[in-house]
Amino acid sequence: MKVAVLGAAGGIGQPLSLLCKASPLIDELSLYDVVNTPGVAADLSHISTPAVVAGYLPKDDGMKHAFTGCDVVIIPAGIPRKPGMTRDDLFKINAGIVRDLVKGVTEYCPKAFVLIISNPVNSTVPIAAEVLKAAGVFDPKKLFGVTTLDVVRAETFVATLSGAKNPSKTTIPVIGGHSGQTIVPLFSQANPKVDIPADKLDGLVYRVQFGGDEVVKAKDGTGSATLSMAYAGFRFAEKIIKAVKGEAGIIEPTYVYLPGIAGGDAIAKETGCEYFSIPVELGPTGAEKAFNVVSNANDQEKKLLEGCYADLKGNIEKGIDFIKNPP
Ligand code: NAD
Ligand code: LMR
Repeated sequence: MKVAVLGAAGGIGQPLSLLCKASPLIDELSLYDVVNTPGVAADLSHISTPAVVAGYLPKDDGMKHAFTGCDVVIIPAGIPRKPGMTRDDLFKINAGIVRDLVKGVTEYCPKAFVLIISNPVNSTVPIAAEVLKAAGVFDPKKLFGVTTLDVVRAETFVATLSGAKNPSKTTIPVIGGHSGQTIVPLFSQANPKVDIPADKLDGLVYRVQFGGDEVVKAKDGTGSATLSMAYAGFRFAEKIIKAVKGEAGIIEPTYVYLPGIAGGDAIAKETGCEYFSIPVELGPTGAEKAFNVVSNANDQEKKLLEGCYADLKGNIEKGIDFIKNPP
């Protein structure tokens, strides 16, 4: 199992690479960034776990060496938000970064599972899909927008009300996209059931939708969520790796191209969105089945979903257009 982290020297990249190095499921860890990867790799390589670590920069064919043979590629490369910015404000710079890195994937590891963390995820995943399509190597079952941080936040924040001792033991579908009102937590489908006082529900939903802003504000100009994102990114990557290695029954929300996944067509029709975060069953070939939790949303959640669709469609089109009609 060879895993690459692209943007490995960054705020997310470093702790994410640490979690990968600590994982017994990974044999080779390839760190790629435009700066500092030799140092990060040297540091991690002293940890006494099986994964063999190497760091690469763009020079000396670094991309080729970093990407070749990768089974899983995780992409947290790109600039983060500062207070007052939306994720869409990152598009101008991050769109090109994701495009170029995914072009590298098409050349050197076209069969890899690709996990996109770089914002705006609502648009960077369609960008990645268009690059993969143009190269004739797009497999929708293997391209994922990582929305796990929204799930992690929903688990954490609901536990402050339910008193659950281990927040991650409550499953909460968080669907839609990854920004503001495109993030829709379906607390009515929590398992086990959670009792949320009526006067607390709106606040809880808002906190999940705008949890990223809390961190951006607290970091006061120095960046956005990095440590919680590294945890969430590793949690999702580990699930992919376990599914690839044959573990059955793994279901996790993730932002995918619906028409390419079993069960996805009906959800695309109902939502009007081709890309959507939805619980999917992971297996050896990737996203094997999408679950239509949209149909079971209650009236209040259906209202939230209307707001989601309105924003998400534009974000998706913007990403597709960036590749089809380059600026
Ligand atoms: P950061 O600035 O600390 O790190 C980004 C890294 O990317 C830097 O080391 C930089 O050198 C590298 N980089 C830039 N261009 C590159 C290229 N062409 N090739 C390889 N590496 C390149 O930022 P961060 O805090 O780690 O955040 C990274 C991205 O993740 C941001 O876009 C942020 O908005 C996003 N993010 C997403 C989620 C999510 O839930 N999906 C959560 C948090 C942050
Ligand atoms: C988050 O949700 O924390 C990330 O998308 C980073 C951000 O810009 O808020």
